[in-house]
Amino acid sequence: MLVSNILVRFLLGILVTLWLILFPVQSVLAANLDSYVVRYLQVKEPIDLQLNEQGETRKFSVEDLSAGKRLFEDSCLNCHVGGSTIPNPIVSLSLKDLEGATPPRDNVNALVAFLREPMTYDGTEESYWCRQVPESWMSQKEIENLAAFVLRAAQKAPGWGVDTFEN
Ligand code: HEC
Repeated sequence: MLVSNILVRFLLGILVTLWLILFPVQSVLAANLDSYVVRYLQVKEPIDLQLNEQGETRKFSVEDLSAGKRLFEDSCLNCHVGGSTIPNPIVSLSLKDLEGATPPRDNVNALVAFLREPMTYDGTEESYWCRQVPESWMSQKEIENLAAFVLRAAQKAPGWGVDTFEN
């Protein structure tokens, strides 16, 4: 009887210790998942996003898109709030405007290429208006997450790139 009592207490102790260790770990993991991404970009499981004009795709997880959203908030939001382009509203981040660029920017690789070397909308010259993102600033993985966030937001986010500043 005494032995089993000690055993039960011992096991309970282990359970409590495990919970104390695992609970903070789980909260940290949960914090990496952005609720905007889950709710408005409708990403709960990894989704396929188009990589290039040939139609190849790659999977991006909720974590990838959440990381992309954080990069966007830190570095792009000033000029592109809600997917608009404050200094040049004609070239917004809406899907329609991304599709209409030369070459089209409605896929991950084209967005990455643009961010590494921003070009004018007709693709003829370098543009000094948008913020250039060199490799020394964002790795390939980071910039792909950022591009994936922009693309998914253009596809799904309500009101993304709709210019509401003029009225
Ligand atoms: C200082 C303001 C500014 C910042 C910061 C900025 N941009 Fe831009 N961005 C612009 C302007 C202006 C244009 C239009 C450029 C042109 O037409 O030459 C543009 C164009 C773009 C386009 C092309 C849109 C289209 O429809 O073809 C994308 C994509 C883009 N920006 C993404 C980003 C991302 C991602 C970031 C953050 C790393 C960023 N921008 C930071 C000003 C900015």
